[in-house]
Amino acid sequence: MLFSILACVFGGTMRNREFIIYEDYDSLSKAVALRMAEFVRTNPQSLLCLAAGETPLGALRALVALQSENKVDLRTCWYVGLDEWLGLGYGDPGSCAQIMQDIFYGPAGIPSDHLSVFDGLDEDTDFQTKKAFDFIKARGGISLALLGIGMNGHLGFNEPGTTVDFPGGTIDLDETTRTVGKKYFAKPFPLDKGITIGLKHLLAAKRILLMANGEKKAGIVETCMRESPDPSRPASFLQDHPGFELYLDKGAASRLLDRNQE
Ligand code: F6R
Repeated sequence: MLFSILACVFGGTMRNREFIIYEDYDSLSKAVALRMAEFVRTNPQSLLCLAAGETPLGALRALVALQSENKVDLRTCWYVGLDEWLGLGYGDPGSCAQIMQDIFYGPAGIPSDHLSVFDGLDEDTDFQTKKAFDFIKARGGISLALLGIGMNGHLGFNEPGTTVDFPGGTIDLDETTRTVGKKYFAKPFPLDKGITIGLKHLLAAKRILLMANGEKKAGIVETCMRESPDPSRPASFLQDHPGFELYLDKGAASRLLDRNQE
């Protein structure tokens, strides 16, 4: 019953792509969870790359709920964390490691050897990067990436200016990322640098699900989906990906819809 009604409003198109818009965050999250569960059922040994941040939390919680109803087994898949703030680890509330462990990896019971996440406290960032790359390589690449979009169009910490051949590693964070990032933390942290899986690995994924909700994302969603792909807006590179799926609520889709109706 929980998932029986998906409040799908209507679809649209952008550059020959279709997208479906959901009434609100709750229905958007449930739709993404169902899509991921379907993917996991048909690809039970696959590698998933999951963003932290606020956007995917509803979908991840709904996915764990599906597992508790025996509708999917998430424990057979493999997981690589998308990114982390340098200088922060699991013990820091708001870190990607803490969010993902407490919301998803822990409740879903993902075995620790099925998981690779960046340790933002490790000063040996080359080791952290290599560990992630080796994990991805050993699984034959990322099968599905679940991403959110930054207010500056970033994906993970692939900040504006990042090119499609960037495999990942440490990165100086953009001013917007540093400002917006304060929302995750109750106390101030220096949010200068991050470590991330790069566009090269993400764009090689078979499926990429991008979620966005709320009117605050409407402008950047429109720019990244309508303007030609360019490093100044990394999410714009998704437009040409054959396995790209865009999931929006009404707020995040509002500018795309306005244009469609012109
Ligand atoms: C977080 C991440 C970021 C966020 C993006 C959107 O792991 O990779 O790219 O997905 O900044 O953040 P929210 O979802 O908080 O709006």
